[in-house]
Amino acid sequence: MFDLTNRVALVTGAGSKNGMGMATAVGLAECHCNVVIADLDIEGAQRNAAVLESMGVESMAVKVDVTDRASIDAMVQSVIDRFGKIDILVNIAGMTQPIRTIDLTYEQFDKMLRVNLLSVFSVTQAVLPHMIEKQYGRIINMSSVSAKRGGGVFGGAHYSASKAGILGFAKNLAREVVTDHITVNNICPGLIGTDFRRSATGLSDEDERKLWEDVPLKRPGTAREVAAAIVFLASDEAAFITGEEIDVNGGAHID
Ligand SMILES: NC(=O)c1ccc[n+]([C@@H]2O[C@H](COP(=O)([O-])OP(=O)(O)OC[C@H]3O[C@@H](n4cnc5c(N)ncnc54)[C@H](O)[C@@H]3O)[C@@H](O)[C@H]2O)c1
Repeated sequence: MFDLTNRVALVTGAGSKNGMGMATAVGLAECHCNVVIADLDIEGAQRNAAVLESMGVESMAVKVDVTDRASIDAMVQSVIDRFGKIDILVNIAGMTQPIRTIDLTYEQFDKMLRVNLLSVFSVTQAVLPHMIEKQYGRIINMSSVSAKRGGGVFGGAHYSASKAGILGFAKNLAREVVTDHITVNNICPGLIGTDFRRSATGLSDEDERKLWEDVPLKRPGTAREVAAAIVFLASDEAAFITGEEIDVNGGAHID
């Protein structure tokens, strides 16, 4: 199961060393998938692409700003020029910002929607014609438990709104492209031990530990545990699953 030989995946937000994007890229490469690493951070993307090459798959690093349509179009064209197709798209690039609604500015809300939600629309729309042409595709978006129950200390209402918007977008798109053999699904992680949230919140180790105590499993999730769910949804075996989300949260939210 989960043999992705000759498949090509594009993973946005995969340029950081310990994030879910890189963990996903590694998981896909372990299934023999060729993986394009796209990120604002081109040095990080290049470092991660070199790691994948050392695993024996083809990889490529591309600089992209997912809020900029010209940059997105250039990214997609460079992948098509190199590989001729995109079978799997994983939309992971995103930001968070812990802030109370009373203090939130219109500009902050607008930026959050552009980075986390409109980016998913723009990247997906740029990739879709190539999937429709091949009559095959797997699209997996990074939502969050915050989409379903509010974000707590790690994200404001604008973060939760952006991640909830992804779920609605994906469910609608899933219906549109199901007969093109393209599936569209989402991942909703809970607290995951990446560098992302710590840098956004400036929490101490002790504060972090208190948060894990609220998770029934009493620990943060790992990026690899999230990647495993993404690799499953990217597989041929997941062909009959679309418009769904998988919660990866240690029991913190069950619906
Ligand atoms: N860590 C968690 O607990 C958690 C929980 C739920 C959801 N998430 C979501 O998971 C995703 C990945 O987070 P992570 O924890 O792996 O951290 P991460 O820092 O590794 O991932 C974010 C990546 O997105 C990139 N990025 C940011 N803005 C970009 C832009 N405009 N264009 C291109 N790339 C851009 C960053 O450079 C970075 O590499 C995010 O969407 C986040 O909202 C994280």
